Amino acid sequence: LKEEKEILKRKNLHIELCLNENIDYSQTQISGFENFRFDYDAVPEIDFKEIDTSITLFNKKLSAPLIIGAMTGGTKKAQIINERLALAAEATQIGMALGSQRAMLLNQDAKKSYQVKNVAKNLPLLFGNLGAIQLNDDIENKKILELIRLVEADAFYFHLNPLQEVIQNPNGNLNFKNLLKKINDFVKVAPVPVLVKEVGHGLSETTLKKLSKTKIHGIETSGLGGTSWAKVEAIRAKNSLSKEAGFKFALWGVTTVESLIYAKKILKNKTIIASGGIRNGIEIAKSIALGAQACAMSLPFLKAASISTNKVIELIEQTIHELKIVMFLVGAKNIKELSKKNLKQVKDYT
Ligand SMILES: Cc1cc2nc3c(=O)[nH]c(=O)nc-3n(C[C@H](O)[C@H](O)[C@H](O)COP(=O)(O)O)c2cc1C
Repeated sequence: LKEEKEILKRKNLHIELCLNENIDYSQTQISGFENFRFDYDAVPEIDFKEIDTSITLFNKKLSAPLIIGAMTGGTKKAQIINERLALAAEATQIGMALGSQRAMLLNQDAKKSYQVKNVAKNLPLLFGNLGAIQLNDDIENKKILELIRLVEADAFYFHLNPLQEVIQNPNGNLNFKNLLKKINDFVKVAPVPVLVKEVGHGLSETTLKKLSKTKIHGIETSGLGGTSWAKVEAIRAKNSLSKEAGFKFALWGVTTVESLIYAKKILKNKTIIASGGIRNGIEIAKSIALGAQACAMSLPFLKAASISTNKVIELIEQTIHELKIVMFLVGAKNIKELSKKNLKQVKDYT
C-alpha cells in the first residue's frame, strides 16, 4: 500500500514538474534535426489539396504519422489527462500511448485512468506501457497480458530507463540483468506487437544492436533533445546525491536523430518511431525522410491536455498542417513519397 501511494504521488508530481519546470531541451536544438534540411522545390508540381498524410501502422489506419507519446495513468489527474488525449486522438484519428501501467498491477482502482477506450472507442491505435525493469520484479507474463487486455491495447511498449531509475532512487530496484531475454520471452506470448523505447535519453547504436537480436516488432527512439528525465528527477530529488547527479546527467544520452539513423541502419524490417524533442511538422517530416514510420510527441500534448481536449486537437491539427506544408514544398503527395526524399546533411554522422 505504501509503495502504491508513493507511485501515485510521484505520478502527480511528474505531471506538475513537467508542466511547470524547465525540463525541455527542445528550444536548445540538440535533437539533431537542425543538422538536416530538405531540398526545397519551388516547382513541386503537386496540388496542396491532394496531399495525403495518412499511414497504416500495425494494420491500423492513422490520419498522419503521429502518436501521442507515453505519459501517464494511475491518478485522478492522470485520468483527466488521458481522457482528453484519447478524445483528441480519436477526433483526429492519430495514435496514443498510455504511461506506465505499473499502478494497475498494484491496485484495481487505478485501471479506470488507463481504460481510455471507454470514452474514445474509435481510438485507432492504443499502446500499453510498462517499465522493462518490472520484469525483474517477479511479474509473470500473465499479469502483463492482463494489462494489455484490460485497456484493449493494440500494441505494447516496454520502456528502458536506467538513468531515470538510478536518479529517482539509488536504493531502489536497479537490477537490469537478463531483461533482453525476458522481453524476448514476452514477445513470444504477446497477442499484440511489442516495442521498446527509452524515455528521453535515447537508444544508442549499442542498445539497438542488442535489441536487433530480439523478436520485438519495433522501437521508439525517445532520444535526447526534449524532455530530460534526469532533470525531472533531479528537481524532484530530496537527497543531494541524486539532485547533484541528476543535473549533471540532464544531457546524458543519444540524440533523437542519432538514435533514428542507427535504428534505420540496424533494425531492418522493424517499425521505427521517432521521438524526443519533436515539436513540429517539420521535424516529423525530417524523421520520416530519415527512416521513421511515425513520430511520437509527449510534453507538448501534456501541456495542451492540461488545458482542454480542444487544445490537444488544435495542436494535432497544427502539427499535421505543418507536415503537409513540408510535403507540398518538397513535392511529396503522400508519406511514402516523403520517406524517399533526400535530406541534405549539414553534419557528418559516419
Ligand atoms: C509527464 C510525462 C510522463 C512520462 N511517463 C512515461 C511513462 O510512464 N512511460 C514511458 O515509456 N515514457 C514516459 N514518458 C516519456 C515520453 O514517452 C517520451 O519518451 C519523452 O517525454 C520524450 O519525448 P518529448 O520530448 O516529446 O516529451 C513521460 C513523459 C512525460 C512528459
